[in-house]
Amino acid sequence: MRFFIDTARIEEIREAAGYGFLDGVTTNPSLMAREKVRDTDGHIREICALTSGPVSAEVIATDCDGMVKEGRRLAALAPNVAVKLPLTMPGLAACRILSAEGTAVNATLVFSPVQALLAAKSGAAYVSPFVGRLDETGTDGMRMVEEVLSIFRNYGFTTEVIVASVRHPRHVLRAALAGAHICTIPFAVIRQLAAHPLTDRGLETFLADWKKNSG
Ligand code: G3P
Repeated sequence: MRFFIDTARIEEIREAAGYGFLDGVTTNPSLMAREKVRDTDGHIREICALTSGPVSAEVIATDCDGMVKEGRRLAALAPNVAVKLPLTMPGLAACRILSAEGTAVNATLVFSPVQALLAAKSGAAYVSPFVGRLDETGTDGMRMVEEVLSIFRNYGFTTEVIVASVRHPRHVLRAALAGAHICTIPFAVIRQLAAHPLTDRGLETFLADWKKNSG
C-alpha cells in the first residue's frame, strides 16, 4: 500500500519524505487555507518538487468548463500533479475530458461505492472515499472502501483507491487488510503509526541495562 500525506504544510511533507515512505501528497482547499496559502500555483509547485509521487491539487470551480480550465492550469504546473475534482455530475463530465487528455484525475468527496464506480467509468485515475467523515454519520467508512475494491476487481478497473479522511491508525490497518492501493494520512496519524508503549518501555530497559553494565 502506498502512503500519501494529507497536508499542504511544506515542513510536514519534507519531514515525511525524510523517512522514506512518502509516495505522494493530497491537498484540498481547506488544507491550503489552513496554511494561509496565497500563491496556490507556487505552493503546488513547491510540493511537487519534494516528491516524485502524485500531488493532488483541487479545483475551486464547480461547473464543468471552469473545472476543465482550472484542471488544465493545475496539470501544467508540474508533471506529477493529479487534478482533484468533486464527485458531482459536472465533476464527472470534467473528469472524462481531462482524463482523455492524459491528466490524472482524483475524484474526491466520494461517500458511496456507486459514486466510485461512476468516477472509474469517467476515467478517473484515483477515487478518494472519505472514511472518517462517513464514520461520523454512523456508517462504516471502511466497509465502503471494501465494496469499492470489490467492484473495481469485478470489472477490472485500473482506477486506484485512495483511502481518505483518515482519523486513526485503525483506518490505515483496515485499508491495508482490504488491499487499498493508497492511504492518504495526516501527519499526526503517521506519528501514531510508529508509536507503541512497549517499544518505548523496551528501549528504556535496554538503555538502563546498558548503563548499569558499563557504569
Ligand atoms: O484530503 C481529503 C480528505 O482526506 C479530507 O479529510 O479530515 O477533512 O475529513 P478530512
